[in-house]
Amino acid sequence: MAKIEFAHVTKTYPGAAHPAVDDVSFAVRDGAICMLLGTSGSGKTTLLRMVNRLSDPTSGQVLVNGTPTVEQDPIALRRGIGYVIQQVGLFPHMTIAENVRVVPSILGQPASETDGRVDELLRLVGLEPGEFRGRYPRQLSGGQQQRVGLARALAADPAILLMDEPFGALDAITRERLQDELVRIQRGVGKTILFVTHDVAEAFKLGDQIVVLADAKLIQEGTPVELLATPATEAVSRLVGADNILRQFEYLPVTEALEPAGPDAAGERIAADAPLLSALLRLMATGAPALVVEEGGAVRGRVTLAGISRVVQEHRARTARPAAADGVVADTSPVAGR
Ligand SMILES: Nc1ncnc2c1ncn2[C@@H]1O[C@H](COP(=O)(O)OP(=O)(O)OP(=O)(O)O)[C@@H](O)[C@H]1O
Ligand SMILES: [Mg+2]
Repeated sequence: MAKIEFAHVTKTYPGAAHPAVDDVSFAVRDGAICMLLGTSGSGKTTLLRMVNRLSDPTSGQVLVNGTPTVEQDPIALRRGIGYVIQQVGLFPHMTIAENVRVVPSILGQPASETDGRVDELLRLVGLEPGEFRGRYPRQLSGGQQQRVGLARALAADPAILLMDEPFGALDAITRERLQDELVRIQRGVGKTILFVTHDVAEAFKLGDQIVVLADAKLIQEGTPVELLATPATEAVSRLVGADNILRQFEYLPVTEALEPAGPDAAGERIAADAPLLSALLRLMATGAPALVVEEGGAVRGRVTLAGISRVVQEHRARTARPAAADGVVADTSPVAGR
């Protein structure tokens, strides 16, 4: 059962001429990170807020754990859903520890019972408890505050996390570090995460599943590889850079270029989830084919420079556009001019 499901969801704000979300349907797989990707005003935040009933659909249904949200008590529903927003929203007069345990406290758990959990969460997001527990939010950097926001969202151990551009205001290095930490946390604790971003690179880095929105509508839903390999429209193709060879190398897994390997094939070993780019660099360095191996060590096949080149040619052929369409490439808005 999908943890979160949108079924023909439409949301029209009072007095608005057009819906903010228009007949959107998709399901978030249990335990997946689903990225909502779209330009400003495309309806991402509106979709997210309908999951924890900060807003309700005008028509259609949002189902959480198989039950329509409108049939669920908002307070009980939100207890099972962590919510992280860009503007963090830490309570300035509370210490970091108090901020992290605010939800358990509201639920009536005494501090003595949650102390250990607070330290565990702070460590999880990369903050040394001894150093940060007693500080106030103003004594933390923006990136550190963002980590506390994440720890707080995890404190009640929700099965679902909603994240609305949580790393948007951070510098590239800190953002990358927090993205890495989120992936590590996700692998460890298996949350279902719905994550809003307008950053294509972030969507590709974090997403098991990417939902592309434009002008209130769902344009395409799929894995990063599906979006790259078979973009539904030219707008998606441009958005994800399906014709961008470097992006293909960065995100398509080495298994895209897999060839059979004989039983006694030898060579350097490359993990099956490694991107084509790292395989390419290794092949160029060694000048010999490499073996593609599963996590457990089983050999899945081999990869060669010629094999990678073939994949690139195939993708090129699939995403090639008629010359007349090239005039719109400079247009960065996914739908304008179409
Ligand atoms: N409370 C509201 N009342 C009326 N209109 C709203 C409200 N909130 C959002 N909108 C409108 O709904 C549309 C979608 O807004 P939404 O906030 O969902 O976009 P978004 O994709 O999250 O954009 P951004 O990337 O800028 O955060 C926009 O046209 C916006 O002006
Ligand atoms: Mg938004």
